[in-house]
Amino acid sequence: MRRHVTVSGNGHPRLPVVVHLRRRGSWGYLRLAWAGAGGELEPPPGRSSGQSTAHGEGVMETRETVKTATGAAAAVPPLRIGGHSYWPPVFPAPMCGISDRPWRMLAREEGCPLVYTQMVSCEAMMRSGRDKSWGILDMFLEPGPVCAQVFGADPENLSETARRLEQAGATIVDLNMGCPVNKVVKANGGSALMTQPDLVRRIFRRMRAALTVPFTVKFRAGWEKYGEEAFTVARLAEEEGLDAVAVHARTRQQGFKGTADWPIIRSLREQVRLPVIGNGDVRSADDAERMIRDFGADGIMVGRAAMGNPWLLGAIVARLSGRPDPAPPTVDERLDTMLRHAEMMALRRGEELGLREFRKHVVCYMKAFPHARELKTRLMQCGTVAQYQEAVEAFRPIIHEYLAQREEEPFPA
Ligand SMILES: Cc1cc2nc3c(=O)[nH]c(=O)nc-3n(C[C@H](O)[C@H](O)[C@H](O)COP(=O)(O)O)c2cc1C
Repeated sequence: MRRHVTVSGNGHPRLPVVVHLRRRGSWGYLRLAWAGAGGELEPPPGRSSGQSTAHGEGVMETRETVKTATGAAAAVPPLRIGGHSYWPPVFPAPMCGISDRPWRMLAREEGCPLVYTQMVSCEAMMRSGRDKSWGILDMFLEPGPVCAQVFGADPENLSETARRLEQAGATIVDLNMGCPVNKVVKANGGSALMTQPDLVRRIFRRMRAALTVPFTVKFRAGWEKYGEEAFTVARLAEEEGLDAVAVHARTRQQGFKGTADWPIIRSLREQVRLPVIGNGDVRSADDAERMIRDFGADGIMVGRAAMGNPWLLGAIVARLSGRPDPAPPTVDERLDTMLRHAEMMALRRGEELGLREFRKHVVCYMKAFPHARELKTRLMQCGTVAQYQEAVEAFRPIIHEYLAQREEEPFPA
């Protein structure tokens, strides 16, 4: 059963929130309500009370408590970052052009206890208090814990930006040391920092001193080869008092191609006493469970596979909470969520810009409808929410007729 409700304090009183009562039961609802109140998320009573500490004693517990790869009975301990506790430890990865307020909202609805903003440049943030970057972050009255990510190479600008992000409500500040894009790397930022340990130490020190909230870093498995640079950065993070690290288990040279090297997660886990969040190629609840059970990750970060498929986050949340795997979304749930996502983007960014930016999501949502090329073409041309609704409503009876003939649901992906 799905019910539209309005959650007060979500920063937009008219923004409808769908509560999936059928799929999540009362805990799902409560979790949403807690997030709405800006509260912290702990396991339900009687559920895993494993105390994963910020300094690694929880690792063995993590490995022991994940028991099965077939759904249920796999509750993992909460992830502690600084003084905060996140359960289950499943997070949407920061992604430029994706991790905006509507996307963060969908991730929260799926049960993620902490969400990330996309990275913003510290130089841009320093230029003006009303700079475009603040609009991109869109963190005002965020309805729950949010980690704001910044990139750059200047210790002074980075630490001042971190301070401002904290003031603006960031629950955690994260430094990006993974971006492989040439423009960023040439300016010494993103993954380029991995090759400059002295500079990294200075940056960590300055940012740590500027912040009272937890401070984390996300980096790559290495520059060209797996290992050394990642271990150095992780050790520096530990020495300079950071609270957790996240590793995208590909090298800078790999960009976003090739396979993520999950064993680096275990190696990092053995080298430092900080919690390690694993990232790269998590495409299913089984993957998430394996990353924790076999590679020692303390938390899971999911990027591209959740685009157009936020239910993947919900499936991982369920698995790591020890609940049975949820049913896959129905065709109507997919269409309704796509529409609601478009509506939210139009509300936050304005209809013209919001819907133009929504096109990349359309491409992803439509992967579940591989035969509906006409609908995709039509959606890519929509300039208003009304046109979106019209296109989807025209498609709905067609897809239902198709399914009735085949007695299949969900639509074969
Ligand atoms: C479109 C796009 C934008 C991204 N932007 C960011 C970013 O702003 N900050 C960051 O740390 N990583 C960024 N990433 C990397 C992701 O956070 C993640 O590390 C990467 O996609 C690997 O995870 P995956 O295999 O689950 O997609 C981006 C990735 C993509 C595809």
